[in-house]
Amino acid sequence: MVVTVIGLGYVGLPLCIEFARSGLTVVGIDVDPERVRRVNEGESYILDIPDAAIQELVRSGHLTATTGFDVLSTADAVCICVPTPLRKSQDPDISYIVSAVDEIQPRIHPGMLIVLESTTYPGTTEELVLPRLSESGLEVGRDFFLAFSPERVDPANTRFGTRNTPKVIGGVTPQCTEKATALYRHAVDTVVPVKSARAAEMVKLLENTFRAINIGMVNELAIMCERLGVDVWEVIEAAKTKPFGFMAFYPGPGLGGHCIPIDPLYLSWKLKTINYTARFIELASAVNSSMPEYVVGRIHEALDQCQRSLKGSRILVLGIAYKPDVSDTRESPALDIMGLLQKRGAEVSYADPYVPHIEVLGQRYEAYDLSRGLESFDCVAIVTHHARFDYHQIAREARLVFDSRNALQGVPPGPGCRIITL
Ligand SMILES: NC(=O)c1ccc[n+]([C@@H]2O[C@H](COP(=O)([O-])OP(=O)(O)OC[C@H]3O[C@@H](n4cnc5c(N)ncnc54)[C@H](O)[C@@H]3O)[C@@H](O)[C@H]2O)c1
Repeated sequence: MVVTVIGLGYVGLPLCIEFARSGLTVVGIDVDPERVRRVNEGESYILDIPDAAIQELVRSGHLTATTGFDVLSTADAVCICVPTPLRKSQDPDISYIVSAVDEIQPRIHPGMLIVLESTTYPGTTEELVLPRLSESGLEVGRDFFLAFSPERVDPANTRFGTRNTPKVIGGVTPQCTEKATALYRHAVDTVVPVKSARAAEMVKLLENTFRAINIGMVNELAIMCERLGVDVWEVIEAAKTKPFGFMAFYPGPGLGGHCIPIDPLYLSWKLKTINYTARFIELASAVNSSMPEYVVGRIHEALDQCQRSLKGSRILVLGIAYKPDVSDTRESPALDIMGLLQKRGAEVSYADPYVPHIEVLGQRYEAYDLSRGLESFDCVAIVTHHARFDYHQIAREARLVFDSRNALQGVPPGPGCRIITL
């Protein structure tokens, strides 16, 4: 059986590996020739995947990569794992899905299974993908099979990966669900079939909207606690002792990554097209996207209290990936924070063991080497709490720390160090 995966990113590459490990022949397709070259040479570009995992499968002939789409003409199945970002207008950009489907359409053949994995609004599989594939004259559920299966990969999660994370699958017809379920049983321990592609699309949006809304709620709680003079972190830890009916979420400098800030907006966009306002999503999105501004305001205040102005202060942003222990900076609130500090005249630097350089508002930054010490900064802002940071060094050497992650909890501050927590 030949399985193809279009899009060899954070989602597509781990999926290729699990299919290939199960003994299937896997061909990864990507428009990025550099990614294709690296896969074929057994070189990983994703932190969670060691080179050896790719090398073994390439060597055994189970995994290859290509920039060409012709392999689709003979492939038994294709999984679409291309990006689904937002346009500047905050509307869904499904152009990557469209272009992948337009490559499949002329190469579709009887028996072929097509599975969309990219996160998208409910209805995409049936309203956008199906009509394009049906132009071939083949009939879905009889001649070819089409399903949606959301990806749940959690980068840097060492406990749950592609194989042991249950996979939801919804086909356009019952036969489609059956075919897709049979395929994924090769790569995933538990498959969870649902009644339709639309339901499977909605499952993913429920999961990520649940997170976005709860994070928005706890971010607002942090703002309220600060006004009330209460330690929000202590409140959450104490609430967490309730053995039922409570799940801890933590405040932070804002949402980041390719999923949580974006996916709920796919859902609210779809609802807008049928004249419904997704109120919780809009509110959570407004609170979450105001957090970088809030963090900069708190840094400003903290500097004021030290008789320093934000303008001209040297500020080091620690951690610019969107979450700990990854190198992905997509939608990272740290970039917004750096941009806001830059606009207000601060002299900004950053350190991140996973990101050697970055461009923010047209300015290129090289990562600061923490072994040079922290004494020269007016403020150190912990934005992403990578495990590789030495928090004792930070508390020992920094003069002022704004800790947006409570990363210094339990770390004694050095004699001249003032720590302010979100
Ligand atoms: N990153 C995550 O943690 C995560 C988790 C769950 C779901 N998702 C969803 O999975 C999808 C993919 O996300 P990702 O993080 O893997 O993206 P990514 O940017 O890491 O990878 C996408 C890959 O697709 C390639 N590509 C783009 N257009 C193409 C085309 N027409 N043909 C072939 N290749 C093409 C790109 O070159 C890139 O290598 C998105 O819809 C995302 O929302 C991502």
